[in-house]
Amino acid sequence: MAQEEEIKFIVLAAGKGKRMKSQKPKVLHEIFAKPLLAWVLDSIEQLPYESESIVVIGHGAHDVEEYLNNNYKYAKTAHQAQQLGSGHAAAQAVPIIDKFQGMVVITCGDTPLISSQTLNELIKYHKENYSDLTVMTTKLENPYGYGRIIRNHKDEIIRIIEQKDATTDQQEINEVNTGVYCLDWAKIRKAFNDLKNDNAQGEYYLTDIVKWARDNQYKVLGYVAKNSEEIYGINSRRDLAFVTSVMNKRYLEELMNNGVTIVDPNSTFISPETTIEPDCTIFPYTYIEGKNTIFKNCKVGPQAHIRGNCEVGEGCKIGNFVELKNAKIAKNSNVCHLSYIGDANIGNHVNIGAGTIFANYNSITKEKKVSTLQDNVSIGSNSVIVAPVEIGHDAFVAASSCITKNIEENSLAIARAHQREVKNWVNKNKETTDES
Ligand code: UD1
Ligand code: CA
Repeated sequence: MAQEEEIKFIVLAAGKGKRMKSQKPKVLHEIFAKPLLAWVLDSIEQLPYESESIVVIGHGAHDVEEYLNNNYKYAKTAHQAQQLGSGHAAAQAVPIIDKFQGMVVITCGDTPLISSQTLNELIKYHKENYSDLTVMTTKLENPYGYGRIIRNHKDEIIRIIEQKDATTDQQEINEVNTGVYCLDWAKIRKAFNDLKNDNAQGEYYLTDIVKWARDNQYKVLGYVAKNSEEIYGINSRRDLAFVTSVMNKRYLEELMNNGVTIVDPNSTFISPETTIEPDCTIFPYTYIEGKNTIFKNCKVGPQAHIRGNCEVGEGCKIGNFVELKNAKIAKNSNVCHLSYIGDANIGNHVNIGAGTIFANYNSITKEKKVSTLQDNVSIGSNSVIVAPVEIGHDAFVAASSCITKNIEENSLAIARAHQREVKNWVNKNKETTDES
């Protein structure tokens, strides 16, 4: 069963990312609150193959390793002590894979748009054409910065030339190296012993494995990726903003095609990890990150912020200046204005008045606690729900209450200072002012 064969992935993530001008390792910079590296690892994980990923880490290795330990425990790491180039980086994974017989895919940790479909097409192409080394290429209108694909008169790829090493003529070539390669490992692994750093940047270029393979009579092919947007690499903050907008635009279009109204795509940001069902309307200036599900017929925004691990049931309204985090809201409930709902379970037909805050976090113990509101609860405006509390069905909280204890079903809870009235206070004050 071909689909079950094992493929190993080398993910290059050791580079300093000089052009980011950051203390943080480049691959930990985020799009929709998820590191660049995680987008790549998730695409690998979705492939219909048994896969093992070896992430090459170096610059900021401690932080990257900690992130991997917390989120991708299965990933192996290889250390690149000095950042001597992408070829040198890949070479650090060689001892780990060593005698493996099969396909190895090398990819970069800074290309978060790469999809599992495109990786799969590359692998299929490599197999079907009995290739020894397949380079994924694509054509870009503006190829600046990328390695250029040099082909001979037979249209075969003979080498890759980096931007900084390219002649003016070579700079005109618009077929570029995407930085993703599929290798017959047993054959191509030897290339890593022979890489040299005699180029403009004094680095060991991974791209030189192409020329090496040709010189050693191996079959080198190029797979031209159809969707060139997927290969955008992030080298600078501008690239980060650009790729964020590409990812966002693509997903908003998919949502609209599936029956979601996006009133203003230019001011709406929705992570592709969030599912939104048909007949929802998303109003302008809404920002949704992380994994959430918004069921059908909901209205969200304007100016809503949904931060992950939320479920918004059918027919809910999440209004302006409302922030949700780790909140499960059942059907037909409303949180219409200026509220923060964090770590909460909320039932059906619940109404949360304007300015309600769920106080879920204890900054001394650093603990977050959950509050639960059953069906038909009504919370008056400007209330604080101090977690953990449970509020029974049909209970009513008076406006401006600070709720610190559970409330039974059908009860009214009032937790605010009594109103006091000082008769004629205004006139008395006026008199004192007149005398002075
Ligand atoms: C690289 C390719 C280029 C291709 C482009 C696609 C080389 C020499 N060039 O250029 O042909 O068009 O990607 O995006 O490979 N890295 C390390 N250790 C190092 C240096 C780099 O791990 O010492 C990693 C980086 O973290 C990154 C990847 O290798 O994930 C590529 O390095 P980067 O410096 O971004 O190369 P580009 O100039 O983008
Ligand atoms: Ca890059």
